[in-house]
Amino acid sequence: MSRHSEQEITSDQEIIEAATEARKRARATYSNFRVGAAVESEDGRIYTGCNIESAAYELTMCAERVTIWKALSEGVRKFRRIVVIADTSRLTPPCGACRQLIWEFCGDIPVILANLRGDTETLQMAELLPRPFDAKFLEENDAENK
Ligand code: THU
Repeated sequence: MSRHSEQEITSDQEIIEAATEARKRARATYSNFRVGAAVESEDGRIYTGCNIESAAYELTMCAERVTIWKALSEGVRKFRRIVVIADTSRLTPPCGACRQLIWEFCGDIPVILANLRGDTETLQMAELLPRPFDAKFLEENDAENK
């Protein structure tokens, strides 16, 4: 985890580098598909993660979720952006499960997709998860049924 003073703004490049380092620690024993991720909290801290696979394949955890769980468990409640990096020419997007969880816990933040060649693309979470099912949806439905 790193922290910048309020004046200093972490560049996309620095966050991408943090995710690239985390990717090196991936435990991708079965797929050999290594993914790194990094999030920036509202106060400028960077949290990173990598994918971790299990011999019971379905227990595998994506890099994005490892990263978000780390940040949430350290008390982060507001996020600025997330980076996902893999060694693919077509930039790797978050899987469906991660889209749901990024939306629920981070909201409509920018998602920076990156690869090891230096290609990047930034998408908003709302583009990646249109018509989300979330707490707001449940609340609105509750209100309607009162
Ligand atoms: N994976 C991630 O960590 N993030 C993604 O965005 C896509 C997929 C992981 C899960 C699994 O360990 C491997 O990549 C192959 O699916």
